[in-house]
Amino acid sequence: MNQMFRADTDRAQEFEGRVIGMINDGALCLTVAIGHRTGLFDTMAGMAWANSAEIAKAADLQERYVREWLGAMTVGRIVDHDPDTGTYRLPDEHARVLTRDGEGDNMAVAAQIIPVLAGVETDIVDCFREGGGVPYERFERFHEVMMEDSNQTVVPNLVDKILPLVDGLVGKLERGIRVLDVGCGRGRALNSLAAAFPNSTFVGYDLSDDAIAFARAEARQQGSTNVAFYSRDVTDLEATVEAAAFDLVLTFDAIHDQADPMAVLRGIRRALKHDGVYICQDIRGSHHHHGNMDHPLAPFLYTVSTMHCMTVSLAQGGEGLGTMWGCETALSYMADAGFSSVTQYELEHDIMNVYYVCRP
Ligand SMILES: C[S@@+](CC[C@H](N)C(=O)[O-])C[C@H]1O[C@@H](n2cnc3c(N)ncnc32)[C@H](O)[C@@H]1O
Repeated sequence: MNQMFRADTDRAQEFEGRVIGMINDGALCLTVAIGHRTGLFDTMAGMAWANSAEIAKAADLQERYVREWLGAMTVGRIVDHDPDTGTYRLPDEHARVLTRDGEGDNMAVAAQIIPVLAGVETDIVDCFREGGGVPYERFERFHEVMMEDSNQTVVPNLVDKILPLVDGLVGKLERGIRVLDVGCGRGRALNSLAAAFPNSTFVGYDLSDDAIAFARAEARQQGSTNVAFYSRDVTDLEATVEAAAFDLVLTFDAIHDQADPMAVLRGIRRALKHDGVYICQDIRGSHHHHGNMDHPLAPFLYTVSTMHCMTVSLAQGGEGLGTMWGCETALSYMADAGFSSVTQYELEHDIMNVYYVCRP
């Protein structure tokens, strides 16, 4: 019997409606990302009701494009539209979540991940057929978007929320300790710590030459002489890192996508002084698909995994753990890497991640 004849029509229709919603929301991610990159949301946040020409002029953009974009924003119910006057405005409540100066997190930053992933779709389809992975350098704007994300989830919360997970750590940083950030990307977290704690010294490692060059330039620009960035593959960290050299090691979203996460964790363990501490921010979730059914970001995170975190690891001949390696796997890897105690924390400002405080 044809499969369709057995299908429950109501369920099929309901699902069709869902798929239409997905297509619309996926498309809106692209136009929201454009609104962020062009500064249109920021411009509109400061404006009263205005027509497309006025908005385009204020944002210094082409009117025809702005008008079409306003169409997407209007039907997507992101901006309000008054058909009588032909004007638009971004409601304050939406500006709060879509602008650089909003009080809350700017969710348009995360929307940019969708077009970043879309840029490698054909490479990923090829990998489904042939295996292997898509390397970092194929992802346009990856480090730029990561930096923007780090700027709002990590940097502003470091001193008040993340470092206080370890009793007395802020005081130690004030007095002067050695800190390592593994997979530091463009180095915003480390540069902000270097500025806040001039008596401490900071080292950042990342695979990307471009990200490291950016981090160094920012360190120079802010006049920090207590931070050094090195372009290096940390897969060999266990064999090459100076033993017992650091009081604090940090990783922000940088373990699950490693080629060899266990080797990196062992390297971090080796790099720590006997009374040192490792703070690991990594993705919140379960190792089991069924364990993530109520996770508010699970479809997004599995997609990021398929099209980025898992594949960049496989491209290095790595394990391909994936974004959703899960807290169970993380805890078992940390124990196997030799950490004697690991405490897991959830911080209110960061629904995407957990924080592990690990001691040698
Ligand atoms: C998801 S990003 C996080 C970047 C940064 N910590 C942040 O929070 O913005 C993961 C980082 O790990 C780096 N990375 C991945 N594999 C690496 C390797 N084998 N050696 C060194 N760095 C690596 C990537 O270049 C990337 O910058």
